[in-house]
Amino acid sequence: MRDVSELGSDVTATGGPGIPRGSEPEVSGPSASTESGDRAAEAGGPRDADPESGPAAESGLPASSYQAVADDDSDPLPVAAALFGDRLELAQRYVAMLADTGVTHGLIGPKEGDRVWQRHVLNCAVLAELVESGARVLDMGSGAGLPGIPLALARPDLEIVLLEPLARRVDWLRSVLEELGLPLTVVRGRAEEPTVRQEWGGADVVTARAVAPLARLTRWALPLLRPGGRLLAMKGASATAEVIRDSAAVRGFGGSAPRVVQCGGTHVDPPATVVVVERTAARRGTREARRTRGRQG
Ligand SMILES: C[S@@+](CC[C@H](N)C(=O)[O-])C[C@H]1O[C@@H](n2cnc3c(N)ncnc32)[C@H](O)[C@@H]1O
Repeated sequence: MRDVSELGSDVTATGGPGIPRGSEPEVSGPSASTESGDRAAEAGGPRDADPESGPAAESGLPASSYQAVADDDSDPLPVAAALFGDRLELAQRYVAMLADTGVTHGLIGPKEGDRVWQRHVLNCAVLAELVESGARVLDMGSGAGLPGIPLALARPDLEIVLLEPLARRVDWLRSVLEELGLPLTVVRGRAEEPTVRQEWGGADVVTARAVAPLARLTRWALPLLRPGGRLLAMKGASATAEVIRDSAAVRGFGGSAPRVVQCGGTHVDPPATVVVVERTAARRGTREARRTRGRQG
């Protein structure tokens, strides 16, 4: 990981996958899909990743086959083969489903059908560089399974739950996972619901792409994480501005100072941009915070 920030310790960057666009408004309901696809398409990809060290090496992604960097105009298959290995064929089938029923069901935008590899699947798969081996991952606001399904395809060692409130998206996700034979769990619900927190909390990592602005994402994600667990919020060009704007709120919710990280740069151009927030404490002023402070003396 290298510190690339002009903002000091609050904004750093690692090599690796891109961080999607910063302050995506929360979107839900039937009209959200097309917008989500368009916004997600603006998400960046990794840059300057060193496959021999840092999170990429820790995560066990193949380092030897980094032969090409996929952009909108290049053949995505060499990069897809490097990222997905013997699951390439499954990834191809997922891409075909996204470009077909994913579009007709409004899960990604109508203009996205030809750009599914670069804008969605590869861009999300490089997030694997930031996830430790064997982690329990909850993909919050998964929509069409992004980034959760590409992450699962790249990293079969992970235990991944896809959380999505909209029934028709949940139905689509379940049919896709059944078709691909992937052992992911799909949960219908909202991140802030107490039952979701009770049943699915304690994750090592919460991922989110194009779901909500950083402060709200943090408020939803931290109760779903174990202490020390991390929110990986895929963001785009506005990542740094969001971090500056929402940093105090994030700390107030019990998060660490948010860091901007780039990853996947050896695979995708542009790299993915991710805001990383660690759960450091219970939220200030809550019963949980008082209990935590009491335990700490
Ligand atoms: C713009 S879409 C993004 C979907 C996907 N992550 C992607 O990158 O394509 C936002 C998704 O977040 C879901 N969502 C909205 N509010 C949520 C909440 N409170 N908890 C969990 N998911 C939520 C929506 O239903 C929608 O599927």
